[in-house]
Parts: sequence; C-alpha cells; structure tokens
Amino acid sequence: MPRPSSLWGYMQTLKVDLGERSYPIYIGEGLLDQSELLAPHIAGRQVAIVSNETVAPLYLERLSRTLGAYSVLPVVLPDGEAYKNWETLQLIFDALLTARHDRRTTVVALGGGVIGDMAGFAAACYQRGVDFIQVPTTLLSQVDSSVGGKTGINHPLGKNMVGAFYQPNAVLIDTTSLATLPERELSAGLAEVIKYGLICDEPFMGWLEEHMTALRGLDTAALTEAIRRSCAAKAAVVGADERESGVRATLNLGHTFGHAIETHMGYGVWLHGEAVSAGTVMALEMSMRLGWIDQQARDRGIRLLKDAGLPVVPPEEMTPAHFMEHMAVDKKVLDGRLRLVLLRQLGEAVITDDYPKEILQATLAADYRAIVAQL
Ligand code: NAD
Ligand code: GLY
Repeated sequence: MPRPSSLWGYMQTLKVDLGERSYPIYIGEGLLDQSELLAPHIAGRQVAIVSNETVAPLYLERLSRTLGAYSVLPVVLPDGEAYKNWETLQLIFDALLTARHDRRTTVVALGGGVIGDMAGFAAACYQRGVDFIQVPTTLLSQVDSSVGGKTGINHPLGKNMVGAFYQPNAVLIDTTSLATLPERELSAGLAEVIKYGLICDEPFMGWLEEHMTALRGLDTAALTEAIRRSCAAKAAVVGADERESGVRATLNLGHTFGHAIETHMGYGVWLHGEAVSAGTVMALEMSMRLGWIDQQARDRGIRLLKDAGLPVVPPEEMTPAHFMEHMAVDKKVLDGRLRLVLLRQLGEAVITDDYPKEILQATLAADYRAIVAQL
C-alpha cells in the first residue's frame, strides 16, 4: 500500500531481493527532500554526490541540503553519453582522492543512466568498493538502469563493454524530477517501459495504450504506476538472475540491434532509448519472420513505440553489413554465436542463437519505412 512520504506526496517501496545484498526502491513525490530515507543507507560521514552539468544546477543543492548531516563532496561531470568513458571516470577518482574520501564514503549518483552507470562503476572500483545509492532523474534511469547493479562505461569499439555488477544500497526515485526532463528524453524512457510489456507483461501493453497521452503529459499518477510496474518487473528478473546467466538477458529486447545503432551513429547522436526503440521494431520483425508472432502483434508493438514519440525506423545509412559488424562485439555473443532476444508471443521473450541466418539477414534488410507506412 502507498504511504504518505510528505504532506503532499505518496511513496511506494519495492524490494530487490538478493539475500543480504537486498535493497529498497523508494518511489514517490518529493523524495529528494527525505533525509530519513537515505540515512539508513549511509554508514560513514562522507558522501560524494556525482552529477553532471545539466542536473547539478537543478537538484544538487537540494540533495546536498537533504544530506546536510554529512560532509558532502559534489562531483560535477560533463553531460552526455560521449563522456561515459575512462577519462570521465578518472575525474570521479580524482575528486574522491583529493578530498581524502575513505572506505566508508557513500557515492550517490544524481542523474540519468550515464551518471548512474559511471558513478556505480566508480563506487565498485574505489578502494575496491564503497557504498552506493542511486537517485535517478530520467524516466529511463528510474525504470531500468538504476535497478539491478549493471555499471560501467563505453569503449570506442562497443557500448558498456567495460564494467561491473555492483548493486546499490538503495534507489530513491523522486517522480517530480521528471518535470524538467526534455520531451525527447521522456520518450526515450518510455521505450524501456514498453519493453516490460513486450517481454513479460502483455496486460501492461494494454494499460500503456490507454495511458500513453497521460504519460507524455507528465500525469503523476500515470507516471508513478508505470515506474512502479516497470521496477517491479525488473526487480523480479534481477532477483531471479542477477548476473545474467539466463532470464535477465530478456531485458535486452531490441538492445543488440540498438547498441549497433548507437555505436555506428556515434554515442549520443541517437539516444539510448531511441536506438532501443528502432532495435525493438527489428526484434518484432524478426520474431514475425520466424513465425512466432503474427503481423497484428508486430504492428501493435510498433504502434505503441510510435505513439510514445519514438523512432521506429533504423537509420537509413546503416546497411546489414554495418549491423553485423557492430553486433559481433555484443555481450550476448557466446562462442562466436550471436544470441538474440526475440518474442515467442507478446509478453514472452526468449534468448536464442537458434535461428536461420537468412532470417536475420532478411530482418536487417527489411524495408522498415514501408512497414511503418502501412500501420
Ligand atoms: P542520460 O543519463 O544521458 O540522461 C539524458 C539527459 O537528460 C542528459 O542530458 C541528462 O543530463 C539530462 N537529465 C537527467 N535528468 C534530468 C532532469 N530531471 N531534468 C532535465 N534533464 C535531465 O540518459 P538516460 O537515458 O538516463 O540513460 C542512458 C544510459 O543508461 C546509457 O548509457 C545506457 O547504456 C544506460 N543504461 C544502463 C542500464 C543498466 O542496467 N545499467 C539500463 C539501461 C540503460
Ligand atoms: N538493462 C538491462 C539489464 O539491466 O539487465
């Protein structure tokens, strides 16, 4: 049951169940001001808030005030996927060492998925591991990247190729932080929300179809419900398969094609969620070509992504050869076989390397403009 988090908001708490490394996800309005939610997850006197040049002016002072009982070190990084690299990671270590942060420091990630992934990786590495809290401020990071402990950076040859599994102590989601999020970023987050419907919750697709206008209009109740349902789905998957030896891979629906788009176009040109959207269309198309879903199901998925304001056609300049080249370094390649996440039906995903090569080739060569035109 939701319970009051402040005079004007309500909070829900979910749990990621990982034995003694279990942690809560708090979702609600105004949580950035709730010091009592953070305090139980901070062991020492030192806190480093890692943010970026866009988010820091909006929320850093407020969060620093909430953490006023601690010695707070702000670490403000340049903004963008293009900075998710070794050089920027080093800035976090520079700041921590210069300020003499010890092993009891807590790293707090304040920002979207780029900040969360980098701050988490820094926390995993600094003095061989310090405490870490996620305060995600984009829809994408609130429904996906802040939960589950995947941290890391990009390599010029591949997305998220260097990193660690490192779980946070808590995830604090203040839904009001979405008020400042650009519309394009909101849509990018919706790609990951829709993903949960496609891979494990077909009735959620119906809910999303009904509430898409409310979600894009930043209706708090709709956003809270979408975040709650997405986090619950992610928490269940992570609890069952933390290190992705099985079912967790299904969370990567559309990501193999999408990562190829991000890498080929240059990090940050297509937003992660946008690339995942076009990649999901390709996964739907391939699932249909395998005879697993029918055209109506494919089109339903594409329509939902389109209604969320997302691109549903891969970049025109990308040839099948480009896709194959980038997909060859995907983390789902095992023993030289490319495993893909596909849909057996709406609401049921599988990861498989058992598909005819010609079907993958036909999927890469398909005329997505024509497919979308007939919707
Ligand atoms: P992002 O972190 O780049 O944030 C998007 C933009 O929004 C940035 O310019 C950011 O500064 C700005 N921003 C953030 N919060 C804001 C706010 N409240 N108001 C105004 N502007 C705000 O992008 P993202 O979509 O949050 O995350 C994408 C990243 O997450 C990718 O690097 C992707 O690989 C990673 N990711 C990781 C996981 C995981 O499990 N760890 C899952 C999915 C994605
Ligand atoms: N975003 C995919 C995962 O966390 O496994």
